[in-house]
Amino acid sequence: METNEKKQVVLSAIQPTGTPTLGNYLGALKNWKNMADDYECYYAVADLHSITVRPEPAQLRRKTLEMYAFLLAIGLDPEKNTVFVQSHVSAHAQLGWILNCYTQFGEAARMTQFKDKSEKHPENVNVGLFAYPMLMAADILLYQANYVPIGVDQKQHLEITRNIADRFNGLYGETFTLPEPFIGKTGAKIMSLQEPTKKMSKSDTNVKAFISVLDDTDTIVHKIKSAVTDSEARVHYAQGKDGVNNLMTIYSCCTGKDFAEIEKEFDGKGYGDFKAAVAQAVVAELAPVRDEFNRLIADKSYLNACMEAGAQKAARVANRTLRKAMKRVGFYQL
Ligand code: TYM
Repeated sequence: METNEKKQVVLSAIQPTGTPTLGNYLGALKNWKNMADDYECYYAVADLHSITVRPEPAQLRRKTLEMYAFLLAIGLDPEKNTVFVQSHVSAHAQLGWILNCYTQFGEAARMTQFKDKSEKHPENVNVGLFAYPMLMAADILLYQANYVPIGVDQKQHLEITRNIADRFNGLYGETFTLPEPFIGKTGAKIMSLQEPTKKMSKSDTNVKAFISVLDDTDTIVHKIKSAVTDSEARVHYAQGKDGVNNLMTIYSCCTGKDFAEIEKEFDGKGYGDFKAAVAQAVVAELAPVRDEFNRLIADKSYLNACMEAGAQKAARVANRTLRKAMKRVGFYQL
């Protein structure tokens, strides 16, 4: 790429609601890292989004710092990428409000994540949960992102982002770049190890259902050993073999082998051998992240300095877009 050629922009974010899982890692974070050299990247800890489930304040503070440390631990260079905390850049909340006013109630009400979360937590169906996709749209549009690396579960939010941006551009002239989702070919939906028709989630109450990026070797081996499979005892990818398909996907993401190669490798072998190999591949993938996380989390002043610099870099870009959008809408400018 020529030096004067402007790189395309990538933005993504993750909520600090728990320790990231193998699903977050393979579905999104690994792609964040892979895109870091070729794109101008903005990566955020989405703490504003996470208060929709009202976390305990001390916990939110701690998880935000931890998630930030994770982002550096997966290998994102804070000098090359802009890694920041969403609430440190006030433009997100400001543009989020504006975009609420360009979104129809009906289209927001169709979001499956809103419907799922409302059903799961009927005691706290707050307006923030409803406005969640418009804040996410603000995150993306503020940086004029071309690509957004995400897992499959966020695809609908990308679609509504494009619709809102397109509507705004239609009313006021080109203001926002329309973003494309970037969804990996494998790993975009890693399933629960215990109920492989459900996605792996960091908020699952059954800890055996997910692998956390911080799990130690024994825990990973144990969780994969007890992963639900089937009685066929043959490693191949097929409809109805959700558990095995999921383990094959995980193995494929960690080793780079495709499904045909994996089927050949385990031809004539049982699930015991297969699970041992999957566990070993996951351990090899996550151990360096865990070690780097443990090193970084002990250095709070370094993390704070990176956060501060990240927020300043992000705010410069975000404020430019916010000012442009506000001017278009007709806010009185001083
Ligand atoms: P969050 O925090 O739930 O998840 C972060 C990323 O991980 C992906 N992911 C998965 N991928 C594969 N398999 C799984 N089991 C799995 N579980 C989660 C998610 O798709 C996501 O890419 N709303 C977002 C955070 C956000 C955001 C944004 C994302 C806020 N603003 C702007 C992109 C752009 C969320 O809750 O992700």
